[in-house]
Amino acid sequence: MSYPKADFVSSAWKDDLFRKKVVFCTGGNGTICSAQVRALVYLGADACIVGRNEQKTKNIAKELSEVRTNARVLGIGGVDVRQPRLLQTAIDRCVEELGGIDLLIVGAAGNFLASIEDLSPNAFKTVIDIDTLGSYNTVKLTLPHLVKSVQMQEAGNRGVGPSGRVIFVSATMHYTGYPLQAHVSAAKAAVDAIAVNFALEYGPFGVTSNIISPGPIGGTEGMRKLSMIEKIKEKEGRRVPLQRYGSVKDIADATVYLFSDAANYVNGEVLVVDGGAWRVLATGPDSGIQYPENVLTRNTSKI
Ligand code: HXC
Repeated sequence: MSYPKADFVSSAWKDDLFRKKVVFCTGGNGTICSAQVRALVYLGADACIVGRNEQKTKNIAKELSEVRTNARVLGIGGVDVRQPRLLQTAIDRCVEELGGIDLLIVGAAGNFLASIEDLSPNAFKTVIDIDTLGSYNTVKLTLPHLVKSVQMQEAGNRGVGPSGRVIFVSATMHYTGYPLQAHVSAAKAAVDAIAVNFALEYGPFGVTSNIISPGPIGGTEGMRKLSMIEKIKEKEGRRVPLQRYGSVKDIADATVYLFSDAANYVNGEVLVVDGGAWRVLATGPDSGIQYPENVLTRNTSKI
């Protein structure tokens, strides 16, 4: 392999954890979702990423295919998750070319900062539709393949590791409320609800559904937007209890965990990956804990 494992994912994971598995991912050309897929591909999976932007999706698929020798990564652009017909065509192509869908990342999302008074009804509806209708379309249309994957796995016919796993990529701003994010908070709350309902309805078929809720992740579009309204530039990550922003690798590791057989009995859960940030955010975006220097520099040998 030409890339150091530590660049993408924890060295704790076995290299062939997802051998012969196929992951389908919406929003796959985003920074977080592409990192999730990159880790899975590195650990043996083949992948199909879909996105709206044709060229960007193709470029990222090519880059992902280079992290492991013989990796197969399809990038299908022009796919708006609000339109079931486009999604169905992409799913069909994934199944035809890669042989099925074992793992699903529901990641497509819309986001911009806007106050409630500035949001037009259509702007509100746009984000709600991308996030909630898009998530619903995605799980509904991939469901037959996820169930089939479980059946094949049970027959000893579908590689190593688990089958029929879904991760929804959500957020944390709806736990507390967040300025200029009413539309996104409403959408993400609904995404969480879809994920939990899906877990209950399809658990009996062996398909699990969980949520990863990233906090402030450095280098992402979401972080760039948040930094426009938070006074965090000068104190990078200081309001986060772990004293740093997250990395996409932190989200990739959570993804590998939930897709691995270490999470066989985890279903309908939320895994918040935010260094503890949302609990601080509960007191307001500008009033996060600023740890005093003597707390940070104290002699830990006496603790
Ligand atoms: C106000 C806006 C706007 C903006 C679009 N609209 N952008 N309103 N501020 N910046 C309004 C338009 O005026 C229009 O309303 C309506 O939204 C639809 O606009 P379209 O451009 O036709 O919509 P569409 O092309 O379907 O999608 C627009 C988009 C999308 C939702 C902004 O391009 C997008 O999602 N881009 C960003 C993707 C992104 O950031 N993803 C990461 C998500 S991270 P009118 O009334 O004029 O018709 C995440 C986790 C949280 O979700 C991160 C924390 C911040």
